Amino acid sequence: MAPLRNFLWFCFITAVYSKSIHQYVDAKAELENYIENKIPDINPRFRPHYHVAPPVGWMNDPNGFSYYKGEYHLFYQFYPYDSIWGPMHWGHVSSPDLVHWKQLPTALLPNEEQCFSGSAVQDGDMMVLMYTGHIVSDKEPYYNETQYLAFSNDGTNFHKYSGNPVLPAAPNGSPDFRDPKVWRHGDHWYVILGSKTNDKRGRVLLYRSTDMKSWEFLTVLAESQGDMGYMWECPDFFELDGKFVLLMSPQGLVPQGDRYKNTYQNGYIIGSFNYETFEFVQEVPFQEIDFGHDFYAAQTTEVNGKRYLISWFSMWEVPHPEDVDGWAGMMTIARELKLVDGKIIMKPIDQMLVLRENVAIVGNLEENEGVEFEKAVEINIQANFNEKVELQLEGREGGDKVWLRWDSEVGKVVVDRGSDDIRQVEWQPNNSHTWRIFLDSSSLELFCGIGDVVFSSRVYPLGGWKLINLSIQDIKIEAYHLKKSFPV
Ligand SMILES: *[C@@H]1O[C@H](CO)[C@@H](O)[C@H](O)[C@H]1NC(C)=O
Ligand SMILES: *[C@@H]1O[C@H](CO)[C@@H](O)[C@H](O)[C@H]1NC(C)=O
Ligand SMILES: *[C@@H]1O[C@H](CO)[C@@H](O)[C@H](O)[C@H]1NC(C)=O
Repeated sequence: MAPLRNFLWFCFITAVYSKSIHQYVDAKAELENYIENKIPDINPRFRPHYHVAPPVGWMNDPNGFSYYKGEYHLFYQFYPYDSIWGPMHWGHVSSPDLVHWKQLPTALLPNEEQCFSGSAVQDGDMMVLMYTGHIVSDKEPYYNETQYLAFSNDGTNFHKYSGNPVLPAAPNGSPDFRDPKVWRHGDHWYVILGSKTNDKRGRVLLYRSTDMKSWEFLTVLAESQGDMGYMWECPDFFELDGKFVLLMSPQGLVPQGDRYKNTYQNGYIIGSFNYETFEFVQEVPFQEIDFGHDFYAAQTTEVNGKRYLISWFSMWEVPHPEDVDGWAGMMTIARELKLVDGKIIMKPIDQMLVLRENVAIVGNLEENEGVEFEKAVEINIQANFNEKVELQLEGREGGDKVWLRWDSEVGKVVVDRGSDDIRQVEWQPNNSHTWRIFLDSSSLELFCGIGDVVFSSRVYPLGGWKLINLSIQDIKIEAYHLKKSFPV
């Protein structure tokens, strides 16, 4: 272009750009105003006391789980205007300890692109978000996914990079190209992305960069051989206790017995990885990471040598009973990960202990006897797992019921929401004869033993919880009411 035309073009772009920035700032203010005005309309009956949930509207995948300037940050897929999925924003919460959370202003609003899932890293003083820009079109394949950046100097206000997208296409041109998870190793940034082959097998792509703006494709880190689903979403890749873990959410797994009964799955492959050859050698095949009804798109972050995980505590294509109350979807509590005997174990983070309030009960209940709790309670039980265990949990004023069972003969733990809505898995009690149960207004998290088997399931009791003892053996129970650590 001639210099003058170039200059005029530059003025035009600058004018359009600053106009759109003002529009963006106005839209943000309007949105915060809308949320503020909408909060009083929310019915609180199923609102969590200590789990992250959207202030209003819809939440799905956790995004940008990270640590920046002394605080943990968690973003999430957010549609503020209805309690069903819609054009994606990034909601935002922060926490000093992964237990006490505060809502922050919505971090990303859609423009021409919807802001799909991604991650966050600290680069010098700056917080950088990398996310998928999802653009809907009226021509096949009807959408386009490319990778975007956004920056912040304060961890609260973000502006999108003017050079977006930074990664315009998958090597095979697949329109499914999303959920960047960025990390730093040595002199490079690395990113993995979920995608698929041309014949619809899920895969994970690995890239690297020195500035996060221009990226070099390195390799296909892993892909389905045909039996592992048509798309791998929300990949995460990290070192854990001397091995490498590829965590991801495959879509399209066929149910096999007790396994893969949710709409979509979330699990991991363990292997070794070489930063010279970029080869991920798989050693332990795919295993589910959580065995409950509602667990998807888990994301991790590492702080001070500890690897933490938070997951979406809902599922696709199932009823979300809270949606009539003006919101839908929440996050699991944060869990710390370890690798033991070729398996990830998840335990509630140590800081959860600070939520314990008064002791609700210590001791034994007779068979068929019940005890009542508030909405937020932690129940620890100790039993002889050579014999059966059965506990019934239900609403003090009705609503859902759920049964937790240990069948010593087949060696399986069962979470039964009634009407055959069962999840079960084998478990070896070994030396740890305890279960730790976290209940909130509409959720149950069961950690068996050292966290080698975990179930996360949404359950909707009315008016607090009631535990009924259906066991025939002596079981010790110790329960604590939990403080509120989430604002709305
Ligand atoms: C998506 O858009 C980018 C331009 O931003 C283009 O390079 C890419 O080929 C498009 N991908 C598909 C699948 O159409
Ligand atoms: C429990 O014991 C079995 C059999 O000895 C062993 O294979 C398994 O790894 C142990 N599990 C845990 C979680 O320690
Ligand atoms: C349940 O009842 C049985 C039989 O009365 C008793 O041995 C056991 O300790 C009770 N369990 C709990 C959780 O209190």
